[in-house]
This record gives sequence, structure tokens and C-alpha cells, in this order.
Amino acid sequence: MKIAVLAGDGIGPEVVREALRVLEALDLPGLSISDGDVGAAAWRKHGHPLPPQTLDLTRLADAVLFGAVGDPACDGLERHLRPEQAILGLRAELGLFANLRPATCFAGLEHLSALKPEIAREIDLLIVRELNGDVYFGEKGIRTLDNGERQGWDMMSYSEAEVRRIAHVAFRAAQGRAGRLTSVDKANVLETSQLWREVVTDVAREYPDVALDHLYVDNAAMQLVRAPGAFDVIVTGNLFGDILSDQASMCVGSIGLLASASLGERQTQFGTFGLYEPIHGSAPDIAGQGKANPMATILSAAMMLRHSFSREADAARIERAVARALDDGFRGGDLGGSASTRQIGDAVIERL
Ligand code: IPM
Ligand code: MG
Repeated sequence: MKIAVLAGDGIGPEVVREALRVLEALDLPGLSISDGDVGAAAWRKHGHPLPPQTLDLTRLADAVLFGAVGDPACDGLERHLRPEQAILGLRAELGLFANLRPATCFAGLEHLSALKPEIAREIDLLIVRELNGDVYFGEKGIRTLDNGERQGWDMMSYSEAEVRRIAHVAFRAAQGRAGRLTSVDKANVLETSQLWREVVTDVAREYPDVALDHLYVDNAAMQLVRAPGAFDVIVTGNLFGDILSDQASMCVGSIGLLASASLGERQTQFGTFGLYEPIHGSAPDIAGQGKANPMATILSAAMMLRHSFSREADAARIERAVARALDDGFRGGDLGGSASTRQIGDAVIERL
């Protein structure tokens, strides 16, 4: 079971270190780990945030564990050299089109939510975000008009096949959960969304056991703070998914607890190839101080065991250990606590 580890920038290396210790504590047979450079760290060493040798390493692996990329020192670089391009490049090059972002409110942490505790308590949802299309990867540019004024433009598009394959992922996810799927679009204004809605509705006929409804993205943003407990699975495009998943993280209240999986079509002998990362960023302000909460990365490693290595029992074991560590008061600064990165890692390992 080959894992490519791309720890990246800021707090990436420290949180990834704890997740690897948790994996080692499980003593899984045949686990092999290799490190690659990514983000600003790679740019400093190789002149590019996603050097070819890193891409090769991920292609040879069964799964990728990713820390974070981003460094304020790179803000002035040309776009293609910025650390964020590394994650966009990995998503595109590895065909990782399905981004799973679960948001669940942990018992006892309701008060950290930006919402009222009784509303936050109900949150247990999964955002399935399309990751290879939309304005993110369309043609784009800044052009000069005849009158000399500059105009920025980004092309939004989704093909039927792109919508169909993410819809299948979302319907199957809903089957494994409460059986409800909400497709989020802007079909009252955008043609892309009109097609999205038609295709999702068509795919729904193959899943009679899943209840499908559709929401416009503005309404979805509103419902997500009004009654987030009403959602089970949300499926949406790349841009809307980016925004709604950050919003969902604040509804739960603890961005240091949210994991994610990015999956493609490639199957390995163990499961589905995927990239796993905490949804928080590189947090340069606290990097290297041993203060970062590694739980989101540890939970991402659990998702890796579930999806890429078909080890559901081990994944669930990690998730229970994290929940117990939280219950026992091991909380990082992001949760109003003072436990260090290492202490949290140790606490999870003890509870395995
Ligand atoms: C995310 C991030 C990325 C995105 C950035 C870093 C390019 O915000 O994973 O949500 O926009 O997809
Ligand atoms: Mg984002």
C-alpha cells in the first residue's frame, strides 16, 4: 500500500507527521511511505510548486496524503508559480474529479459554531464537489477592449459526461447515508446549471431509493445557516462547492476538524486512488510552533483507509479515537483549547 506524502507548507509538515504516526500505530501490513515536495517548499527547491518528480511519485502511489500549500512570500509570483497551483495541478493531472467534504458537528463542540448550538448540533452532511471543471479550468484571461479598458473573463462549462459522473458519486454516497441528495446550481440564470439540473434529474432515475431535490445556490447558502440539519448529501459544481464547503465548515465551527477526499476513476488493487487533505490551509501565522490541530489530517488519513485501501474498520477506529480524544478534552487552539500538535497526536494514538 503505497502512500505518497506531500506535506507542503506552513503547518502542513507538522499535521501530516501526526497523521503518519497514527497510521504507523495501526501497524498495517505492507504500508510504504514516500515523501514529495509540493507548494512553496517545492518552488524554493525546484523552481516549481508541482515539480514533475512529485507528479511521478503520486502516479506510482495508491493514495496521496496532502498537508497544505500556501505561503505569503509567494503572493507576488506569477500565477503558475503560486503554491495553490500545485493542488489545482494535482486535481487535474490525476483526474481527481470528486471531492468529498463531510461536515459533522462533534458532540460537545456545538458552542464553537457560528450558529446557535441547537442548530449546529444537527449538522451531519456531506458536500460532493465537482473538482475538474467549471470556471476553475475553463479558458480565462484578461484582455484589452477596443476602448483600451481591460476585461477579465473565465469560461464556465460542464459537459454532460462531467455532470453524470459526479452525480453517480453523489447518489451512491447518499445511498450509504440518509438517502437524500440536494443538487445545488443556478439554473435560473446559468445555462451550465440548466444542463447540470437536467443531467442530475436523468441520473436520478437509476437511484429510486434516493430522494433528490434541487436548490439554487443563493437559497442553498441561506438554508445552510437556517437549517443545516436538513441536508444529507449536497452535490454541486467546483465554484459553488468551494464556497459552500467553507461556509459549512464555519457552521460546524472547527475548521481544524474537517477532512476531505478527492477521488478519481482509477482503481488500484486496494480501492479507489485518491488524494486526502485537511480542508484548512497552511496557517503561516502558527507554522512551526507545534500549535496546529492535526485532527483534520488524521481524519483525512481515516478517509484514505476507507476509500483507497478498503479498510473501513481501521478508518472507523481512527474516527472513534479522535472523537474520544475530543471528549477527553484534548483540544487545539482552534477549538479554544491549548493541546499541542504532538499531544493531540499522542491522545489519538492512545485511544486507538
Ligand atoms: C479548496 C481551496 C482551493 C480551491 C484553492 C487553494 C485553489 O480553496 O480546496 O477549497 O479553490 O479549490
Ligand atoms: Mg476553498
